[in-house]
Parts: sequence; C-alpha cells; structure tokens
Amino acid sequence: MPKSEIIAAARPNAEWWRTAVIYQIYPRSFADGNGDGIGDLPGVTSKLDSLASLGIDAIWFSPFFKSPQKDAGYDISDYKTIDPIFGTNEDLEALLAKSKALGIRIIVDIVPNHTSDQHAWFQAALAAPEGSAARDYYMFREGKGTNGELPPNNWQSIFGGPAWSRITNPDGSAGQWYLHMFDSSQPDLNWDNPKVADEFDDILRFWLEKGVDGFRVDVAHGMVKRAGLPDATIYDENLRERSISNLTLEEAETAVPYWGQPAVHDAIRRFRKVLDEFDDRAFCAEASMSPLPRLAMWVRPDEYHQAFNFDYMTTAYEPAALKKIITDSIIEYAKVGASSTWVMSNHDGIRHATRLGIAPENTPRPGDGIHPSDPAPDEALGLRRARAATAFMLGLPGSSYLYQGEELGLPEAWQLEGKYRQDPTYARTNGKRIGRDGCRVPLPWVADATASNGFNTTGESWLPQPAAYRTFARNLQDGVAGSTLELYKRLLKERKAFVMGSGEFRWAEEFQDKNTLAYINNGVLVLFNFGPESVILPAGEVLVTTQHDLTAERELEHDQVVWIKL
Ligand code: GLC
Repeated sequence: MPKSEIIAAARPNAEWWRTAVIYQIYPRSFADGNGDGIGDLPGVTSKLDSLASLGIDAIWFSPFFKSPQKDAGYDISDYKTIDPIFGTNEDLEALLAKSKALGIRIIVDIVPNHTSDQHAWFQAALAAPEGSAARDYYMFREGKGTNGELPPNNWQSIFGGPAWSRITNPDGSAGQWYLHMFDSSQPDLNWDNPKVADEFDDILRFWLEKGVDGFRVDVAHGMVKRAGLPDATIYDENLRERSISNLTLEEAETAVPYWGQPAVHDAIRRFRKVLDEFDDRAFCAEASMSPLPRLAMWVRPDEYHQAFNFDYMTTAYEPAALKKIITDSIIEYAKVGASSTWVMSNHDGIRHATRLGIAPENTPRPGDGIHPSDPAPDEALGLRRARAATAFMLGLPGSSYLYQGEELGLPEAWQLEGKYRQDPTYARTNGKRIGRDGCRVPLPWVADATASNGFNTTGESWLPQPAAYRTFARNLQDGVAGSTLELYKRLLKERKAFVMGSGEFRWAEEFQDKNTLAYINNGVLVLFNFGPESVILPAGEVLVTTQHDLTAERELEHDQVVWIKL
C-alpha cells in the first residue's frame, strides 16, 4: 500500500504554545487550602509538584478575580484583584514563583465580553443618565412598544431567557434595557467605545507585567455586536440557537448578529499588539465558531495564537469522523500559520469519561448537562473510551488541553440534586437544562474518611462529591500500574521524548482496517482499535498502551490505543 502523504511537517524549535499540554484548573474545585469548601490559590500552590510529576507544560486558570460568583467567576467585578475566596494577589505571586521554578507556565482567563453587574463601571452606568459616557461602557438601549416595555430585539441569553433586562431609574420609573448574552448579572460591554478597549489594554498589561505567560480569552467571538443590533434569525421553537455551520460566512454574520462579526477582529488585533509588547506570551481564544475554516480566522498571524477546537471535542466516536476532523484541523489551522489544538473536556461540558458512555442520540447539547432522569451513561465503557480517546489525542501534533480530574478518569457528577445546582442555566430554565455543575465538583485527592476526599482537611465541599469519587482518588492511582493517572504520565513522557507536539505526522493506512485508525508521528505508530474484534499489533516496542494487560500475543482489544516505536 502506498504511504499516505505527510500532512504536518516536523517543526523543530516550535514556540512553546504550539506544542504545550495545558492543564485547566477550575480554582474553586482543585484544592482547598483554608478548608472553607472552595478551592483556592494556596491549595493549588501546595499541589503544584503533583502537576509537575504529571508532566504538563502549562496551567490555564479559569477566573480567580474578584466576583460575586454568579457564574463561578466569569462575572468579574474587579479585573486586577484576586477574589478573597481564592486568596490574595500575594498568593498569586507565590504561585507564579513556584510554578516558574517547576517550569510550568501560567495562563489566566480574561473576560472581555461582559463584566459583573457589581463592577464599578456598571454601577456608574446605572447611576448616570441615559446617553452619558458611563452608560456608553455597556449596551443600553430604549425598549420597543408604546412605553418601551419590550426588549430592543429578539436576542436570547445563552443561559436561557431573554438577553435583555430593563433597569429602574433612581426615581423609580422604568428605564432603558441593557444587553446580557449570559446571565442578567453579566452585562455586555460596548466594544464600539474606544474607552473600553483602553481599559482592557491596561488590564492585559497589568497581568503581563506580573509575569503571566498568556491569556485564555472568554467568548472571544462575541465581543463586538452587529451595528444596529438587528434581530437574530436562528432560533428554534424553544428559542435556542440552531447550528449555523452550514451557512455561508455572510449568512451567519446576519443570522447571528452577536457572534463572529467582522469587527471583532479589529479588537483582537489590538489585544495582540499589547501581548506582543512582551516576550513569549500566548493567547488562546474561546471562539465557538464552526466550521473550521471560520474558526481559523481567529488565529490568523496577527490575531490569537490558538483557538479551542470544539468541533474536535464534539466529534462522533468513530474512525471516519475522527480521521476527518483531525485532518481538517491540521490543514485549516496550518493555512493561516497556526497549529491545531485538541481538547476533550472542560468546565462547560460533560466530562468525557461519562460523555463517551452515552449513546450519540442521547448526548445532550453542549452546556445542558445530564439530567438525573436521563438514561444512565455506561460509565465503564465511557472510561475505557475516554482513556483511548485521550491516548489518541496526546500523540497528535499541536497543543492539547486537559481538564482537571480527567487524569483520574473522573466521571461527571450527573446525579447531583437540584438543591446544589449553581449554574445560572439551571435557574434561568427552571431546571429544564440542568447545566454544568456536574463537571465542576471538587477533586478527590486522598481516599479518606472526610467527605471531600482530601480536597481539604475539613470535608467541606461547595458541591458534594458522589460516593464513587473516592475510588478515583489520586493517592489510589499514584504509582499504580494501569491506573489512569499513570497512563497520563506515561503518555506525556513519551510525547515529550519523541517531540510529538511538533512532529512529522501522516496517517498510516498500512496499519489500518475498517475498525482501526492509525497514524505515525515522528516514528511512533499510534493505533486505535474501535472494535469489536481484537487486532494483532505490528512489530515494534510498545511505548504505552491503554490496555494494561497487553500480553505477549499482542492482541489489542476494542476501545484501546497503543503507541509503538517502529
Ligand atoms: C464561557 C465560559 C463559561 C461562561 C461563559 C460566560 O463560555 O467558558 O463558563 O459561563 O463564557 O462568561
């Protein structure tokens, strides 16, 4: 069989972010130093050694800035101060110093689409008259209808319900409406106002000077809205967005006047100029854009370095689909000089150890979560597939994002009772969409008598851990052959040893049949058996495999992956 062509050339001396394995910390659920049930920065600092031993290159922190925590910190009231629940600015200095010593880079989350309604800018806007400079920081508009009693347009909040709320004037009369694409406590900023851009230049410089290595930019596709704020034309009967990936770029820009507008790119370029004042910093966009060529517009040479590859994350678990999305990703990103990113889980979706145990037709939409009354996922199959999918992902060239707890094989806490749920989606849809709390439950570190399994020493936990989390505790996996933790360590070690993050990549049809998928990256064959039959492995040294009990017969079972040095 002729060899298939090389689709990614080796890239010696690639910039760090092109190849980095970046571990996402959701600070309130990682490790709790003061025992109040909410994770904090001293907690993280105390666990940095375990992340170093895992073998990651960088950490991305979900927001730890001052916030009323209405959307778990994605509602910021002061961009330059650490929220007291997470610690102090000095705690961050200590964390940065230690992570630097360990060679781990730090990326922080910046939220430029909206602030908290408690931010001084919004409070000033409420106190100021209509048409004032203070109001112009946000998207205030007159309502429609005889008395302005109707929202200015038909836009819907991503968390459910209308995207507009009406304020009450200081004299008690009904006032203008303000836009909030998320919760009503998260008013959207007005990026047509140059003062807003000035504020963010200053915020970026503030953190860059403190020594952070870069930013993950929240809702990077949404900062600038279409002029005139026309109605959107994309809602289904439940007023939820339909997929727009089949629309042309122009159609999509009109259909969804709040996402992906051409003027967003001017704001990005301005951000990038600030970043480039500093050496070696990186910039990753959360841009929910599809299909890939449209997402690639966010990573053109003077825009972001990276953008999360959500199309990859949501690809069906089967060889043809996976092969296509990987090929397309490498090619489409390369067209603009970027490298691809890969991700399977984050704080907004169902953990992949559970997601991959759900039949495709039952898989909830991203952000919806699994309802306790939904059919139970097959958790054993999910974990087996998750290990395989991750082992396949970590051999790919480009940068990979891991979400805290996936290295333990942690499942989604999908049976969490309603009384614990805190995601605004849950309240805004009256529990119809259960939301994202199930992937945000604190991590089990030590299987012990406390209810929080070593998350802290008090047993307090802002969301309760399911009983099963004890069996996933890190101490039960550390040093234990065949554990998910040891699998991740081994994958990261070999990935580094064979420089696979920037390796020469091609598909290896010569090692494939219809139920397997194989590629070669820098001389390492990575083979995925989707099953149902076992396959006999080709010759070569097995570097790492998800199948712990691989015997001398070298039969790779279904839903298993192996890396072989050819
Ligand atoms: C992003 C974040 C999500 C947050 C939303 C609003 O999608 O990842 O957690 O709720 O933005 O800031």
